[in-house]
Amino acid sequence: MNKPVQTHSNNRPIVSNATAQDASFSTGHAAKPRNDSLATSVTYPSSSQKTKSLSNDQIGTDSDAALTRTHSRPGWWKESVVYQIYPRSFQDTNGDGIGDLRGIIQRLDYIHALGADVIWICPVYDSPNDDNGYDIRDYYRIHEEFGTMDDMRELIERAATYGIRIIMDLVANHTSDEHAWFVESRSSLDNDKRDWYIWRPGEQEQPPNNWTSFFGGSAWQYDEATGEYYLHCFSRKQPDLNWENPDVRHALYEMMEWWLDLGIAGFRIDAITVIKKDQQLLSAPYDESKGSVPVGSVCLNRAGITDFLHEMKQQVLAPYEALTVAEAPGVTIADIDGYVDEEHGAFNMIFQFDHVDLDVSMYERAIYKPWQLSRFKQVLSNWQTATAERSWMALYMENHDHVRSVSKFANDAAYRERSAKMLATYYFLMRGTPFIYQGQELGMTNHYFTLIDDYRDLDSIHMYNEQIECGRSEQELLDYLYKRSRDQGRMPMQWDGSAQAGFTSGQPWLQVNPNYTEINVAAQLNDEHSVLYFYRQLVRLRKEHPAFIYGNYKEIYTDSEQIGAYTRTYKQEFWTVWCNFTESTISLPDLMSGERMLGNMDDHDSGTLRPYESVIYRTIQAN
Ligand code: GLC
Ligand code: CA
Repeated sequence: MNKPVQTHSNNRPIVSNATAQDASFSTGHAAKPRNDSLATSVTYPSSSQKTKSLSNDQIGTDSDAALTRTHSRPGWWKESVVYQIYPRSFQDTNGDGIGDLRGIIQRLDYIHALGADVIWICPVYDSPNDDNGYDIRDYYRIHEEFGTMDDMRELIERAATYGIRIIMDLVANHTSDEHAWFVESRSSLDNDKRDWYIWRPGEQEQPPNNWTSFFGGSAWQYDEATGEYYLHCFSRKQPDLNWENPDVRHALYEMMEWWLDLGIAGFRIDAITVIKKDQQLLSAPYDESKGSVPVGSVCLNRAGITDFLHEMKQQVLAPYEALTVAEAPGVTIADIDGYVDEEHGAFNMIFQFDHVDLDVSMYERAIYKPWQLSRFKQVLSNWQTATAERSWMALYMENHDHVRSVSKFANDAAYRERSAKMLATYYFLMRGTPFIYQGQELGMTNHYFTLIDDYRDLDSIHMYNEQIECGRSEQELLDYLYKRSRDQGRMPMQWDGSAQAGFTSGQPWLQVNPNYTEINVAAQLNDEHSVLYFYRQLVRLRKEHPAFIYGNYKEIYTDSEQIGAYTRTYKQEFWTVWCNFTESTISLPDLMSGERMLGNMDDHDSGTLRPYESVIYRTIQAN
C-alpha cells in the first residue's frame, strides 16, 4: 500500500547525530547528513574580477564583458558552455589510478581557460560501482575513491571564484541494490519500503514478463528472500524505484533539495524517461523477427510520465531555478511541449539521441550499421526547427556513453585535427547550449582493444559474453566494441606526454590510449593551431555574437551527402556555417560571401571547401 502523500516542506529537520563531516555519513544510513549549505555563501565574481583571472592563454582581447554575462538572469544557461567531466577518468591526484574531486579542483584553470562556465560531473556518490557510479548506494555521501564531502564543497566554492557553476548527475530511476532503501525493501513482503521498488511474483518459475534490460538479459531478477522478482531496466544491481509511490518521489525531492542547498546549480537528469512504467507490466507481444522485447521499447516516455516530471519541477526545480538537462531517449519532437517548452516544459533542455544512435538498432544487439550524413543532418535539423520558437536544446557530439566523435563522424587518421575542428564547428554554432565532453576538445580518438579483458564497462562485457554464446566470433565483437563501446569515451584524459598521459602516477583503472604521446593538452597548448585552441576560439565566437545564441537557424544544402551547412540570422547579421564532411574538395560558389570570421584552414579559398574544411562567414545587411 502506498502511504498518504506527505506534505513537503523546505524546513526539514536536521538529523542531529550526523555532522557535516564526511566520515559520519555512514553507508546504508538512509537519513540525511547535516548540510552546511554553501548556497548563500557562493558568490560569482563580477565581470572585472573575472576578466583578471582570464588573462592567461587568451585568444582575442576585446570581449571579456561578453564572456561574463551575468549568471543570475533567467535563461542564463542559454549563454553558457558546459564541460562534462567523467571524474573516474579526468585527473587522479593520489596515484590510485582513479580520477578524483581534487583532480577536478586542480584543473579548474584549464576548464576556465577553455571558456566553459558550467561543469556537469558524472556521479561521484557512494556506489558499489557496478555501473561506475550510476548505481548509487547513498545519495548523501561521496564515494571515498573520489574524495570527501569537504572536497565537494571546496570544488563548488573554488569553481564559483571562476564564475563556474557545478551541476550533478541525478540518478532517480534506480538505486544500487545496496542502497538502504532496497536492502529494506527486499527484506520482507510487508516491509514499509517493499513498495519503493517494483516487485512481482514469477509466472511458473519464469520472470513476470518478457522484457529485456538495456544491458541485455531479463529485466527481472529473482530474489530468494521473498521468492519474488524485482524490475531492473539497467543492471541487476540497479533496481528501479517505484515512482508511483509518493514517498519515493518525496524522498528523491528532498535529496535534490539537499544538493541544491549545498550550492550546486542544477542537474543532468539520468534515464528520466524510464521512470513511468505501464502498471500492468504485461509481456509485450513477442515479434520473432525482432528477437526480444527490450525495455527501451516498452518503458521509455510512457503516457503519464509528465505528471511526475511536472511535480518534480514544481516541488524542487522551479523554486530553486535549477538548471536542468534531461537525458531523453524515447522523447520525440511531438513531445517537446511537456519536456522543454519554455513555459510548460519540465526541463530547460534535453539530450535527444537521434544523431548518436543512427548506427544501431534497439532490436539488433551488437550490429553496427554505417550512418549517413544526410540522416545525421536531418535529425539534428529537425530538432533545431522544432525547438526554434519556444524551446531549447542541449547540443552534444560525445559523452561518457558514446565513442569519440572524431572517430565516428569525422576522420581520426590523416585529417584528425582538421576534421575534429570541422565537427566542432558544425554542432557548436547551432541553437542550444553546447556541451563539450572531456578530451573532445583535444580530438581524442577511439582505440582498438585487442582483448575483451581490457574492457571495463559492464554493458560491453555483458554484450560480448551474450553474443559469444549466440555463436558470434570474437573478432566481430571486438570490431563492434571499437565502434560502440562506452569505454571508448572513458579512456583517461590525455594531459601530457609523460607516463599514463599525466592522468595518474599509478595504474589507471582503464588503459590510456597509446596515442597520448601525440594527442595531449600540453602539446596542444604549445600549438595555436591545435584542436584545443580552436575550441577556445569557437567558445569565444559564440559568446561574442548573440546571433549564435538567439539567432534563427536554417539548414542549407539539405540533401548533400558531403556538406553540412546552415545559416544563423540575427538583427542585421547573416551568418553562414560551412562544413565539408568528406575527403574531397568541393566548389560552392553561392552564399559563401561576406567576412570570414573563423575557419579550420588558414589558407581558405572562398567558394571552395577542401577536405574536412569548415568556415564561418558573416554579412551585415544594410537597412
Ligand atoms: C544513463 C547513463 C549511463 C548509465 C545509465 C543507467 O544512460 O548516462 O552511463 O549506465 O543511465 O544509469
Ligand atoms: Ca584518485
